[in-house]
Amino acid sequence: MWVFEEILPSGEKLTDVINSTNENVKYLPGIKLGHNVVAIPDLENAVKDANMLVFVTPHQFVEGICKRLVGKVKEGVEAISLIKGMEVKMEGPCMISSLISEQLGINCCVLMGANIANEIAVEKFSEATVGYRENREIAEKWVTLFSTPYFMVSPVQDVEGVELCGTLKNVVAIAAGFVDGLEMGNNTKAAIMRIGLREMKAFSKLLFPSVKDTTFFESCGVADLITTCLGGRNRKVAEAFAKNGGKRSFDELEAEMLQGQKLQGVSTARELYEVLSHRGWLELFPLFATVHEICTGHLPPSAIVEYSEHKPNFS
Ligand code: NAD
Ligand code: 13P
Repeated sequence: MWVFEEILPSGEKLTDVINSTNENVKYLPGIKLGHNVVAIPDLENAVKDANMLVFVTPHQFVEGICKRLVGKVKEGVEAISLIKGMEVKMEGPCMISSLISEQLGINCCVLMGANIANEIAVEKFSEATVGYRENREIAEKWVTLFSTPYFMVSPVQDVEGVELCGTLKNVVAIAAGFVDGLEMGNNTKAAIMRIGLREMKAFSKLLFPSVKDTTFFESCGVADLITTCLGGRNRKVAEAFAKNGGKRSFDELEAEMLQGQKLQGVSTARELYEVLSHRGWLELFPLFATVHEICTGHLPPSAIVEYSEHKPNFS
């Protein structure tokens, strides 16, 4: 396991502590990792003999990591991305699995689902979805690799749909957090989640007409949306943002509340807003657009309800 090296307040290196205690004391304290897990600070060294690579890091770091990996991975290596987010390039939006595929010239599946890390770590039952492009055999390999009695994985031939579900639900979770911070109640929150799901589906299908309706009923779709809007970090920090009337920035709250962990929803909302403006789709996605405008201080948190329900006509 490659680990981005950090010096802990004790003066020790994070990788040394993980290897001596078998625990990631900074990001997953209290959980023993498997004894076969070795933390390696050198990226090249960590990947050199691998024939299957699992990518999981906040999405803002992926491009830099891939640049360092060019020419360093084994030929024919298979990859899977657990990363929820996207990049926006001059040419338009680029999903993280495509970025990995294109930069490294390798195949990349995705795994998304209702998977809050702390709960999986204590082996509470959950489901996940593997999205694949064409090769069912590879998808089955990933399913076998990830499946445990408490982690049930299903393959779906819709890589874009699965990845967009995981990516876009983080923006809806920010909206749900605003509703919680404003103490608007469960009916309002459910309404915001429904409107958000409708925008997730419409946006995914506009971007990739091949995206399947059924994908939204898999763990990566409605289930991940529900768990993130109930118990995720995006929701939690957005709630604090609304409670403070938008006076403390997301960066400040993230640093204070998450101790080094990274929010994906705020940057995804900004990236999404760029795509919507560029394509002239802002009017079609009032909830997505409003989340970004609240995050940047152009609208107050209460606008989430006022502005989101301009029912667009998705034909
Ligand atoms: P995180 O938000 O906890 O961020 C901390 C991680 O970022 C640490 O592993 C740290 O080493 C790494 N990091 C910090 N600075 C870095 C740098 N400059 N370069 C590279 N790495 C750096 O991370 P996470 O929760 O593991 O999230 C990673 C991805 O997994 C995200 O896309 C997230 O949406 C997705 N995800 C997270 C969860 C969850 O519950 N945590 C569940 C499903 C999917
Ligand atoms: P948060 O990043 O909001 O905690 O969501 C985690 C997640 O993606 C659960 O599936």
